[in-house]
Amino acid sequence: MLPPRLVRSLIFLEVITIFALDTSAASTGSSLPEDPVYPSINGFYQRYSQYPEYCSTPQHMENRRIPPLQNNPSPEIGDTRLIHVTAVIRHGARTPWSADMYCWDGYWEDQETGVWDCNLTTFMAQSMMTGGNQEMHQPTCLFEKRYDALLFPQDQLTNELNGTCQMGQLLYQGYEQQLQNGKILREAYGYHKGEFSHDERMRLIDLSLQDYVPWHQDHLHFRADDDQRTVMSGQVLLRSLFQVELVQVYQTTNQYPVIPLHIADRDRDILDANDRACPRLKQIQDQATQSQEYQDFDNSPTSQEVRRYMFDRLKMSNQSRNSILDCLMCTICTDRPLPEAINDYDGSNDNWFARLAEYDIQTYTKLMKYNDSEYAKLALGPLWYEIMRNINPLVVGPSNGHDEEQVKIKAPKFALFSGHDTTIMPLLASLGTRLWNDTDWVPYATLMTIEIHELIDRQSDAKVYTSNFAFRLLYNGKVLTSLVEGCPENADLCDIVHFQSKVNPIATRNTDCSVPDDPTKGSASAGFWSLESSEGMALLATLVIGSCLCGSLLTLLMLNKRFSRYSGRSKVDNNSAWTIDDDDDCGLELPEGDFQDEPAK
Ligand SMILES: *[C@@H]1O[C@H](CO)[C@@H](O)[C@H](O)[C@H]1NC(C)=O
Ligand SMILES: *[C@@H]1O[C@H](CO)[C@@H](O)[C@H](O)[C@H]1NC(C)=O
Ligand SMILES: *[C@@H]1O[C@H](CO)[C@@H](O)[C@H](O)[C@H]1NC(C)=O
Ligand SMILES: *[C@@H]1O[C@H](CO)[C@@H](O)[C@H](O)[C@H]1NC(C)=O
Ligand SMILES: *[C@@H]1O[C@H](CO)[C@@H](O)[C@H](O)[C@H]1NC(C)=O
Repeated sequence: MLPPRLVRSLIFLEVITIFALDTSAASTGSSLPEDPVYPSINGFYQRYSQYPEYCSTPQHMENRRIPPLQNNPSPEIGDTRLIHVTAVIRHGARTPWSADMYCWDGYWEDQETGVWDCNLTTFMAQSMMTGGNQEMHQPTCLFEKRYDALLFPQDQLTNELNGTCQMGQLLYQGYEQQLQNGKILREAYGYHKGEFSHDERMRLIDLSLQDYVPWHQDHLHFRADDDQRTVMSGQVLLRSLFQVELVQVYQTTNQYPVIPLHIADRDRDILDANDRACPRLKQIQDQATQSQEYQDFDNSPTSQEVRRYMFDRLKMSNQSRNSILDCLMCTICTDRPLPEAINDYDGSNDNWFARLAEYDIQTYTKLMKYNDSEYAKLALGPLWYEIMRNINPLVVGPSNGHDEEQVKIKAPKFALFSGHDTTIMPLLASLGTRLWNDTDWVPYATLMTIEIHELIDRQSDAKVYTSNFAFRLLYNGKVLTSLVEGCPENADLCDIVHFQSKVNPIATRNTDCSVPDDPTKGSASAGFWSLESSEGMALLATLVIGSCLCGSLLTLLMLNKRFSRYSGRSKVDNNSAWTIDDDDDCGLELPEGDFQDEPAK
């Protein structure tokens, strides 16, 4: 017998659905002529003979499966059991993050590069409360957000990107990439209770629906920051990971399954470096820029030659620094035309396309890695704290230096963090000097996973495996474990103490962001609003013009007692009503451009 469903909260949910986007939808679309058309993935990646790894084409994605555990490892390991996985992804392919990106001469004026139309839309659902009685219904309809209200270029009434795309919006290519990531995770970690075809050591996510739903919050923690591209990327990945089971539960209960998404105000968030919240980060960047090492790079013949080429051949300006990579990749990865001068990418590093990209990449990575990755460690400390909150409670041992509050938290088996390139690079760099190369960048839809394995017998090499837990670190299908200092060469699994000794000291909610006396600047210049530079003023202007995107509430707390029969537990009861203040949602929201995937300046 199913108990009546009750509502105690006014709910907004923003779902990315899903069924409308199945490839089959293209042919079964409604008869309205303006309805979006979802192109076939086979139509992408046609113009160029080679695509950089950055693009994450289907061929690239194919090579990023999670490899099986080694069978006869050395040093020796006995039986193991996977107890937790944290996956950190970069969102999939997207539009330019800002219309303030300075690309080559004519980029924004050209119809082919300067206009971005998107047919991939976000669907929202709103819960309904009927009258005074407390009965709740599932949403009875979905709303589709179409960014098509400002399409009058002759009157200067346009979106930032001149078409129907949002800045930094997830593209259809990116959607496909996250579907792949979902499959990769399912293949690696999913299993059915009672079936033994799957490597027993790698069984993490029980898909049998016998005892619980795998997306119940005791088993899954889903976190993103409040960008359209990261939210949708995570949603698409999870939908792909749990596709079969979601449909099954829907068909059984006639209710949409609900997956909570944990999120925060974008301008306070810590999924990547936030120098508005942490002024010290700016200072580290300044110090790094002035360092001998950086100056040597910046003044090297190669750097000078690249800059001359940009200025002379592409008519780029000094302002283009830190946009170049994005200009190149947004263009090549979507089959838009590159200018002749850089249309020479051949898969190697020996061409102007790659030289420009590598130059721009190093202007970021060298700062991030300066002084033993001081920037990366400070910036990502709070995120490491969130990650370790799910890991440390499982790994009880002498090296667990964390407070009691943490240990009490029941840790989910699987955690998904949906962020940016500037999430993943500093996470890896903060684990040691060998984990990130200066000239590498994080491709779209990158999948980084931290696996936690329990050693369940005493058969492992006791000199190497001193605790009962080990980790495996993966990045786009490559095992990086042995690059972490203290870990055995070529080993898959490394004792957790080597991971904790790097991460626990920096994983903290309470970062020291104070600016020790900086002779060049007043310490009050921390906030965004007090930026003095002309670029600051330009940002301010964009902000007022451009960013009345009403923030929407993404997560939803739906009390649906039907699910308690899967979990055996009642769900969290949240009585608070969400209210949206219609008058106040414009103006102070920061522009997307301020949350670029790349470092500011
Ligand atoms: C979007 O849909 C329209 C039809 O409404 C179609 O003409 C167009 O090619 C589609 N654009 C993209 C980028 O898929
Ligand atoms: C796109 O918008 C910018 C202003 O935001 C304008 O300068 C440019 O000409 C537009 N490009 C096209 C192709 O409409
Ligand atoms: C770019 O900036 C450098 C100083 O950082 C300056 O020497 C150079 O003249 C500038 N180039 C252009 C084209 O503005
Ligand atoms: C390097 O970073 C440490 C903190 O990790 C800091 O105490 C030290 O002052 C930094 N050194 C320089 C030269 O900035
Ligand atoms: C860094 O580059 C070297 C040489 O190309 C490569 O073997 C290594 O895997 C790279 N490191 C990472 C973390 O990708």
